[in-house]
Amino acid sequence: MREENRRFALAERPQGLIDDNTYDLETDPVPEIGEGEALVRVRWISVDPTNRTWIGEEPTYLPPVQIGETMRALGLGEVVASNHERYPVGALVNGLTGWQDYTVASDSNPLMVVPDSAKAAPPASLLGILGMTGCTAYFGMLEIGEPKEGDTVVVSAAAGAVGSVAGQLAKLKGARVVGIAGGPEKCAWVIDELGFDAAVDYKADDWRQQLKDATPDGIDVDFENVGGEIMDAVFARLNIGARVALCGLISGYNAEDGRPAGPASFGNLLIKRVKLQGFIILDYYDRFGEAIRQLSEWMGEGKIKSEQTVVEGFENLPHALNMLFKGENKGKLVVKLD
Ligand SMILES: NC(=O)c1ccc[n+]([C@@H]2O[C@H](COP(=O)([O-])OP(=O)(O)OC[C@H]3O[C@@H](n4cnc5c(N)ncnc54)[C@H](OP(=O)(O)O)[C@@H]3O)[C@@H](O)[C@H]2O)c1
Repeated sequence: MREENRRFALAERPQGLIDDNTYDLETDPVPEIGEGEALVRVRWISVDPTNRTWIGEEPTYLPPVQIGETMRALGLGEVVASNHERYPVGALVNGLTGWQDYTVASDSNPLMVVPDSAKAAPPASLLGILGMTGCTAYFGMLEIGEPKEGDTVVVSAAAGAVGSVAGQLAKLKGARVVGIAGGPEKCAWVIDELGFDAAVDYKADDWRQQLKDATPDGIDVDFENVGGEIMDAVFARLNIGARVALCGLISGYNAEDGRPAGPASFGNLLIKRVKLQGFIILDYYDRFGEAIRQLSEWMGEGKIKSEQTVVEGFENLPHALNMLFKGENKGKLVVKLD
């Protein structure tokens, strides 16, 4: 057992990518637990683009992390001492642990106990396809995108955690799926490994032409993870009655010059009678069990696959967060604590 609690505290709000000044690495005593509390040793941290939005000045769907506060993040840990019957010693727990070695679970800081049936899954999957990430792809694609047989579905950030699952779910529903990703290797991967029908390399000079060639009949569903120019080009190709599942806008999360401009092709949403719905996965929290059961079943049947990028070492957490914005992950990015 570690004798101290390392934690990354927010030191200053970054401009652009985070750097060496963004966090202070602090060392505190391991927390002592009282009645109704359990001590959790954090083992894995989920690295998510939204982590960057939480350290900006503006409130998002959660209040900003304050200067001096431990960096907020989802994680997976093990109960190592307990005065709470819901958290027996040895239980695996999942939830907002933060960037630290230990957290305290209680009724006011609840964590989800991983059911025995899921304990055999690789820990990175419990934060990925069988966690918040998989649920985002599941509800966003199936309930907002509503792909049908014969539809053309476009997924941006297609080789990432959410996109890689969302595209596979649209394939399961009989759609033609086009992924947008950075670089030939990721594009080949979504086709060869995940079964997408085509891919567009947005880092290539001719990416707009690639998008046209890959969607000759227009686009019926846009699972939008990126925003900016890519979203604009996709919006311009939406068909009558298309659906946009507005999941994320990662291309703007590090913007230094205020909010990115809106899409020039926005008018096409009106002309084509498009339904666009933004969503925050926390709103589906009560239904996570349903999604995770179905995703596990499809994984067990070999119908969908998951991929992880694992970074080792607590001190690499800030570096790992930047990896998302440089495209240095494939599938779910997690940090394994030492
Ligand atoms: N609404 C919700 O509740 C919810 C929940 C979870 C996630 N999300 C959103 O879903 C999106 C994907 O999240 P994730 O966790 O699955 O992350 P991810 O896709 O695994 O990682 C981010 C990926 O985005 C791509 N990217 C980064 N900067 C980009 C840019 N400027 N232009 C184009 N692509 C860029 C990179 O891939 P390339 O190598 O292809 O560039 C990178 O690997 C994010 O926008 C996130 O905020 C929303």
